Amino acid sequence: MLVLGIESSCDETGVALVEANGTAMPVLRGDALHSQIEMHQPYGGVVPELASRDHIRRVLPLAEAALARAGVRVSDVDVVAYTRGPGLAGALLVGAGVACALGASLRKPVLGVHHLEGHLLSPFLSADPPAFPFIALLVSGGHTQLMRVDGVGRYRLLGETIDDAAGEAFDKSAKLMGLGYPGGPALARLAEAGDPQAFKLPRPLMHSGDLDFSFAGLKTAVLTQARKLGEDLPSRKADLAASTQAAIVEVLVKKSLAALQREGLARLVVAGGVGANKALRGELGAACAKRGVRVHYPELHLCTDNGAMIAMAAAMRLQAGIQEASTVYAFDVKPRWTLAELSVLT
Ligand code: KG4
Ligand code: ZN
Repeated sequence: MLVLGIESSCDETGVALVEANGTAMPVLRGDALHSQIEMHQPYGGVVPELASRDHIRRVLPLAEAALARAGVRVSDVDVVAYTRGPGLAGALLVGAGVACALGASLRKPVLGVHHLEGHLLSPFLSADPPAFPFIALLVSGGHTQLMRVDGVGRYRLLGETIDDAAGEAFDKSAKLMGLGYPGGPALARLAEAGDPQAFKLPRPLMHSGDLDFSFAGLKTAVLTQARKLGEDLPSRKADLAASTQAAIVEVLVKKSLAALQREGLARLVVAGGVGANKALRGELGAACAKRGVRVHYPELHLCTDNGAMIAMAAAMRLQAGIQEASTVYAFDVKPRWTLAELSVLT
């Protein structure tokens, strides 16, 4: 079974082919990706209307590239999967529209995928895939969640952010420091040259006893610190970046460990764009090694948005028999959609 996956929920257009045979773990056959970062950079953030228009321009050439890389013809595709949500409505509509048109013209069924389920299952495309059950730390630009995962579609939310997401905390702090968009990777790069203990920044909800997060206060503390530094900011920017990163990472590590302990599990999966952060990987690795916990990540290039994770999630849902692809080509998208709504757990 050959699944074509299309991702267009935000500022990356991704198309990929995943092959699933029998009960064997699906494998990536070919993928193609275009990031809109350069296009949005002058505006300091994603401009939704520009994002949609660019997805329209990119999606078919990318599909051709992915097919060529996989060495298959479009008529070989058995199922067309697309990101149904959450994300920017106009951007989602592009992927959904193209996927359904493609499915209709090929007379092949289509399947709408939850973007976060894509992130969650993306480590199964790595050379060292996890085994169920595990705790998942989902850290992206829009979400920060801890989840217990017992199988495909079996998700229980343990805690989440009550305001900003971890990626947002990186992005907004970076913006305050004049690091541009997307701020996460830029702040992380700058932090490598700084002292993580230079400034005392808050660790919100760190000792709250639950598994929720809050990052909005951190951004305010970074702003206050930046103002206090005034003219000295340029020379202390690396220290401020390192201190900000340390605050975010410490909270993520602490809460992940608490979730593992609470659920009595010894396996952690980290997914979403912030999962590419080297400091987070280092700290989590060290803390988990001490406790005999295995940590799994998607391959680095599959941490941020891509088509492979969408094709993979579709393939795994089909294999698990929890969803069938549909030949009804009327589609809708779900800009707001929680993973809990999708869970087969009651
Ligand atoms: O998963 P993703 O590509 O898109 C969403 O679904 O949101 O995540 C994007 C987020 C952005 O906030 C970006 O700044 C952050 O991931 N990010 C990073 C790094 N790479 C991406 N944050 C910190 N360090 C990184 N190396
Ligand atoms: Zn994402």
